[in-house]
Amino acid sequence: MVTAPVTVREALRGVQERFRAGGIDTPELDARLLLQAATGLRHEDIVMEASRRVTVEALAQLEGMVTRRLKREPVSRILGVRAFWNADFKVTPETLDPRPDSETLVEGVLAHADKAKPLALLDLGTGTGCLLLSLLQELPLAAGLGIDISAGAVETARLNAVTLGLSGRVEFMEKDWKELTPLSLYDVVIGNPPYIALPEIAELAPEVRKYDPITALSGGPDGLDCYREIAALLPRILAKNSLVALEIGAAQAADVKGILGKAGLVVLQTLTDLAGHDRCIIARWTRA
Ligand SMILES: C[S@@+](CC[C@H](N)C(=O)[O-])C[C@H]1O[C@@H](n2cnc3c(N)ncnc32)[C@H](O)[C@@H]1O
Repeated sequence: MVTAPVTVREALRGVQERFRAGGIDTPELDARLLLQAATGLRHEDIVMEASRRVTVEALAQLEGMVTRRLKREPVSRILGVRAFWNADFKVTPETLDPRPDSETLVEGVLAHADKAKPLALLDLGTGTGCLLLSLLQELPLAAGLGIDISAGAVETARLNAVTLGLSGRVEFMEKDWKELTPLSLYDVVIGNPPYIALPEIAELAPEVRKYDPITALSGGPDGLDCYREIAALLPRILAKNSLVALEIGAAQAADVKGILGKAGLVVLQTLTDLAGHDRCIIARWTRA
């Protein structure tokens, strides 16, 4: 093993410094995560083994990752994995990078769903499958279908299902929700549709604007196109007393409640995320 004249501590400090100078938001955290990935060291080893020499191979790998991060590629994309709810999800260029805020939707569904029933779940715009697969982990009797317009996302969601041992209870399909012909009715419909208004996309952080797929971001001129499309679909696919949970942008609660109300749903709750922003609408379909 060839070691470079650089210790773990020095490598960490060097990367932190470059990230600070490069305007990265979380320089300490990002430097540690990339150093861990390059060296195979655990979080605690970074402190315990601070004087250990880093190998030449690990340093070269670290350098490649640091260069990518300085171009504002998110750490999760560099590592190809993002922690969400109780699991690690594979992330690819075709999928949205799952956000911690979206765990609000998982919590909301779990608060309202009947765990004792064999619920049929439908996830509209599944991406990595993070919402649907997290719910299936918590609802052992449930089964689900996830659809996405992106073939790459569907493939990634399938791989995540296999890794989590859930492929027996879930299917993923490449499908536009505007063209979904329901074979059955669903007890729980969830979705985190693209909801950024077109004029706002240019103002997003480079980590989002440059690396999340545009099909996962753009909600049309006012950000609400997908909610209108989904509201038109819902009455055809909902079982009596079924639940709908949709993630929303922080300023969209009133508009989305209006759209769902017009489609005949009864809005139960608006949930806020950890930052206190409106993040999820929970509604019920009470008709037969
Ligand atoms: C904001 S991302 C959410 C991904 C994932 N559910 C999550 O929360 O991380 C929206 C997803 O909807 C998909 N999508 C956009 N328009 C669609 C449509 N008309 N039909 C099906 N999926 C669509 C995108 O490809 C993208 O994967």
